[in-house]
Amino acid sequence: MRNPGWGKLLSAKSEKTDTFVDWFRSSSPYIHAHRGRTFVVAFGGEAVADEGFPNLIHDIALLHGLGIRLVLVHGARPQIEDRLRARGAEIEYVNGLRITDGAALACVKEAAGAVRVEIEALLSMGLANSPMAGARIRVASGNFVTARPLGVRDGIDYCHTGEVRRVDAQAIQHRLDSGAIALVPPIGYSPTGEVFNLGATDVAGSTAVALNADKLISLVEGEGLQDHSGRPISNMVPAEADRLLEGKQRFAEDLRQHLAAGIEASRSGVSRVHLLSRQLDGALLRELFTRDGVGTLLTAAPFEDTRTATIDDVGGILELLGPMEDERVLVRRPRELLETEIHHFSVIERDAMVIACAAFYPYPGEYLAELACLAVHPEYRNSGRGDALLQYVEQSARERDVRQLFVLTTRTAHWFMERGFTVSDIESLPVQRRQLYNYRRNSKVFIKVLS
Ligand SMILES: CC(C)(COP(=O)(O)OP(=O)(O)OC[C@H]1O[C@@H](n2cnc3c(N)ncnc32)[C@H](O)[C@@H]1OP(=O)(O)O)[C@@H](O)C(=O)NCCC(=O)NCCS
Repeated sequence: MRNPGWGKLLSAKSEKTDTFVDWFRSSSPYIHAHRGRTFVVAFGGEAVADEGFPNLIHDIALLHGLGIRLVLVHGARPQIEDRLRARGAEIEYVNGLRITDGAALACVKEAAGAVRVEIEALLSMGLANSPMAGARIRVASGNFVTARPLGVRDGIDYCHTGEVRRVDAQAIQHRLDSGAIALVPPIGYSPTGEVFNLGATDVAGSTAVALNADKLISLVEGEGLQDHSGRPISNMVPAEADRLLEGKQRFAEDLRQHLAAGIEASRSGVSRVHLLSRQLDGALLRELFTRDGVGTLLTAAPFEDTRTATIDDVGGILELLGPMEDERVLVRRPRELLETEIHHFSVIERDAMVIACAAFYPYPGEYLAELACLAVHPEYRNSGRGDALLQYVEQSARERDVRQLFVLTTRTAHWFMERGFTVSDIESLPVQRRQLYNYRRNSKVFIKVLS
């Protein structure tokens, strides 16, 4: 028999654990979605020098533990500058690019080596104080990048500063296949045996493209990308990002370079490019495991899209409708029914998640169709999405020569009335629909004549 005090205990405990349970449930679809995917994560030498770097490495180790194939691309600018200063050498930049003479190249090699050792050491620590403590993480670095010299531009010889010529994607894939995290330094080698100092953003973008990575994630200095009024920009397509870079707004060089590399990667097939402030603790986790993230997402296709549903949307629609069915706002639709009727559905997809749906059932020969199952995820209501979806359905109805749209509803009557639907009755429904009418549910019938 159940302990009588058990219920009390459970409810007291559940209050405490609610946030955790909610958080875990809401992040689990992402855990599933990211497993086996390839992410290129880029960060500057500033991140490595920061005292919060172990936290970032901890999060990276966690992602690795969740089965994400990770390629880390690091910069080493402050470490190179420190070494140059210690030698009393001058640091010269033109157009945001360092001129790497012989002395500077020696510093570049030293600094890149030191940063590599630092990252490897932290990743070797495992996840102390966590259930994954002692997990062995392998790190693989190497001569993955072939480079060529920037050469002489506008009369300036950039010496050992180079640009990416080719990335050995196969070699990196081998390391990832063997379960290692790949570490790519901002250094390239030429077939003639020369060493070149490269921009980490160039390396990261080229690596993401060569690997056909699922994501390029750039951890930028400062607060991340904001519009001219200082508001964070949550998503963009490359054309918008171009306009931003070409506009009057001034951006820090680091951010500008990450954004430019991101635009190029996005145009070259990397489907998601993220720019996050690396100063925000846990930015990687927040971006990857919450619905709206914390940074800027650059996608070649619009972030939010209204379209006809496919069989792949069944899971997402079930998840969206479940809570509304539990509340009896909507009639329950089993998975099998949804699968056979999926071609009747339209959805609004936001970053690979179904956030709204509607179904449309025409009655051939009657110029009449039913609109059903119109639902918007509670977090995305009151922003015109219900309206947008209704208009989308009305448009497809017109294209099929449907002249009247009817809807059965228990709680949303006024929403439909405000959008041109008028009260009707069961008698005006097609015969087949009348036979299916549920008198216990007692839904009201509304009809809209399509102009
Ligand atoms: C009805 C629903 C689809 C509207 O989605 P939405 O994206 O929030 O819609 P819009 O942004 O286009 O419209 C929002 C407006 O509708 C109003 N509204 C929302 N639900 C309403 C309801 N049940 N009755 C009357 N008005 C309602 C809002 O108050 C808001 O109006 P306001 O800005 O003047 O305050 C959404 O609330 C929902 O999913 N409801 C649960 C499912 C449901 O009832 N579906 C209909 C059965 S077929």
